[in-house]
Amino acid sequence: MQHTILDRVDRIAEDVVSLVLRGATAPLAPWEPGAHIDLALPNWLTRQYSLCGDPADRDSYRIAVRHEPLSRGGSEYIHLFLAPGRGLDVSLPRNHFPRLPAPEYLFLAGGIGITPILPMLRGAVESGATATVVYLGRSLSTMPFVDELRAGYGSGARIIATETEGRPDLTALASRLSPDALVYCCGPASMVASVEATFPADRLHIERFRPLTRTFAPNTPFEVTCVRSGDTVAVDTDESLLDALIHAGHPVPPGCREGVCGSCEVVVLDGEPEHRDDIGAPAGRMYPCVSRAHTPHLLLDL
Ligand code: FES
Repeated sequence: MQHTILDRVDRIAEDVVSLVLRGATAPLAPWEPGAHIDLALPNWLTRQYSLCGDPADRDSYRIAVRHEPLSRGGSEYIHLFLAPGRGLDVSLPRNHFPRLPAPEYLFLAGGIGITPILPMLRGAVESGATATVVYLGRSLSTMPFVDELRAGYGSGARIIATETEGRPDLTALASRLSPDALVYCCGPASMVASVEATFPADRLHIERFRPLTRTFAPNTPFEVTCVRSGDTVAVDTDESLLDALIHAGHPVPPGCREGVCGSCEVVVLDGEPEHRDDIGAPAGRMYPCVSRAHTPHLLLDL
């Protein structure tokens, strides 16, 4: 964890605030565009937010938060109760949405999904690549960072208020891409689904806010052995591996509990995990908030 002080809270669009978190003591940990942090709120909730400031600024992190009154309470708390001067702990940055090298990029952002895209776009332009962003929102008043995009990227930023302009023709966008171009998309599920149906999967990189709805085989019980402590932990059908580990006293940090943030990542030394996350677990790792086991036993590096 890193200790920060909330330096600024600015309303930057309808129902959207940006927060600037300043490192309380030392420089903050470095990050790459596409990264996010866990923000530990004073009401005991932990929420994940993409970093949308300047990676060269080691003194502060910037995030933006849309007020979602029907959500699980994180954005509500931030909008109603957080004020400058408050101390807040944040995790080290994690990046499951890195920008790979390419000569051309198309960035597709919907609503608050612009947050990881902003620093990725900046990095792409600085690398000398051709970069375009298509940014969709219901109306301009609901869309954060419109001025920043217009000022920084001119015609490279296509800003579309769907209420008045409708949705862009994704097929036409795809047809204009060069063969080496990569596509990065972050936005609501309906937008992501349309983008997935249009662009080739091998050139498309997606960051999801919410997990995909999928059906898995019924849960079966299994056991894990934590190699460092020597504990064996039983996981019943009606509990997650993450909860079983936490109840057994293993400090695995919970985040989204939905398999999208990566904060609970553990190393698997033996056995075959059943991956149910939406991140794409790297070899030898798993996300115990959602993932289970294909084998009756797993050996974990805990
Ligand atoms: S808590 Fe977010 S992936 Fe497990």
